[in-house]
Amino acid sequence: MDVRSISTSRLDWSEDTLAIGVFESEVELTGDLATLDQKFAGVLKELITEMEFKGKSGSSVVTRVGSGQSVRKVMFLGLGQPETLTLDGLRQAAASAARLATKEKSQVLGLSLPPWQNDAALTAGAIVEGLVLALHQDQRFKSEEDSAPKLQRVELLGLGEQDAAIAQAQKICEGVILARELVAAPANVVTPGKLAETAEQIAHECGLELEILETEDCEKLGMGAFLGVSHASDLPPKFIHLTYKPNGTPRRRLALIGKGVTFDSGGLNIKGAGSGIEMMKTDMGGAAAVLGAAQVLGRLKPGVELHFIVAATENMISGRAVRPGDILTASNGKTIEVNNTDAEGRLTLADALVFAEKLGVDAIVDLATLTGACVVALGDGIAGLWSSSDGLAAELAQTAELTGEKVWRMPLEEKYLSLIKSPIADLKNSAGRAAGAITGALFLKEFVKETAWAHLDVAGTVWADKEDGYNSAGATGYGVRLLVNWALLEGAEAGKSDG
Ligand code: BES
Ligand code: MN
Ligand code: ZN
Repeated sequence: MDVRSISTSRLDWSEDTLAIGVFESEVELTGDLATLDQKFAGVLKELITEMEFKGKSGSSVVTRVGSGQSVRKVMFLGLGQPETLTLDGLRQAAASAARLATKEKSQVLGLSLPPWQNDAALTAGAIVEGLVLALHQDQRFKSEEDSAPKLQRVELLGLGEQDAAIAQAQKICEGVILARELVAAPANVVTPGKLAETAEQIAHECGLELEILETEDCEKLGMGAFLGVSHASDLPPKFIHLTYKPNGTPRRRLALIGKGVTFDSGGLNIKGAGSGIEMMKTDMGGAAAVLGAAQVLGRLKPGVELHFIVAATENMISGRAVRPGDILTASNGKTIEVNNTDAEGRLTLADALVFAEKLGVDAIVDLATLTGACVVALGDGIAGLWSSSDGLAAELAQTAELTGEKVWRMPLEEKYLSLIKSPIADLKNSAGRAAGAITGALFLKEFVKETAWAHLDVAGTVWADKEDGYNSAGATGYGVRLLVNWALLEGAEAGKSDG
């Protein structure tokens, strides 16, 4: 789909389908909307009255304009009230325009939405995201292609020249789609080896450094926690490390870590019926977000040094499997009693966090489908955010506000640390049901000494059961836009002030 921003006004635009965003106060049709209504012989007023359209946020109406007119169809997108409009509201409005236009078999769409906080470039970017992400369909595993007509071209009206913003948003969408496709593909397709290959393709295309640690390399580094998880699988684990270095002195140095369990059977504490085991191909959603972000940032080439890290493995059962009660030693020397083999994500992340800190970065962010408890707490629309640094937490929360990928800060309650102390080893990898997402985060914290660190539990957000805005049912690509926009932050100081 081709998107461009053109200088034609909505009054003069003449092509297939014209979509106009209106606030509740605008349904009276004054100014140029009144002129447009006259031009279309009162069809706009009729549409609003007949459909009782009030301009409520998320609502939309569409009608045929009548033969002989300069456009075939016209659509209104409700924007609610100007004070409560968010950038994500515009993203959602663009998504409903794209979906409705497709349903109406429109090939060309003229889209008129107001700039958010007078920032036409930011707005154009968000609109492109809404359009492209709403229309993305994953047909890879269907034997026959969908033959329905597709929206060919979208023209943004009233935002001025926005080629750079549009091009950047399209790159970002490609990263989100990469992440979605990695998550949606089954575990017999996306294996640890496949994640390593994907990293290799990104490295090759964008000129990033790539290091893949094989089992023996991980053994030399003492990564007993990660390797313990990988033991039962017939597929070799891959510890993936992609590095991007800018020309000149980097503004800051960041590590992004993604949980990359390509299938989580639970191990010997096997997931039973009704546990959602068939969804555990999504347990590499954090890794997918990190690789998606690597592709985007590798193309955008910002002035920051970036490390993308994934400890990729399956969590399976076999005679070689780690047993409940086994003790593993992580690469920082800490010993872990594995009292539940299904709490495997934190074992893989423990060694990844130690590895990241050794790089001497200013901040570390990990994304992990870590706990069902986080889904119980926050549902599938909000990720849990834990951080040892208020500055870093604020940066992520502010970025999430703009990208519409919701986060909610949760406590690193020191008191609960006792829940993951083991009588026989330093730590145990699981506690009871109470505060399950927090004890997961506290476990991870034990593997970061002093670097500013944040953990996002994305167990709920990587997958949507039903269509919602620009997310179709299925993999969401959650986290790519958040990581990209966070890495692009100018003048950011995470880890340098209050690490
Ligand atoms: N991958 C799961 C968490 C998960 C649950 C992701 C639901 C997506 C949807 C993780 O490895 C896991 O099994 N966690 C356990 C931890 C427990 C044993 C401490 C859980 O949440 O039950
Ligand atoms: Mn598990
Ligand atoms: Zn898992």
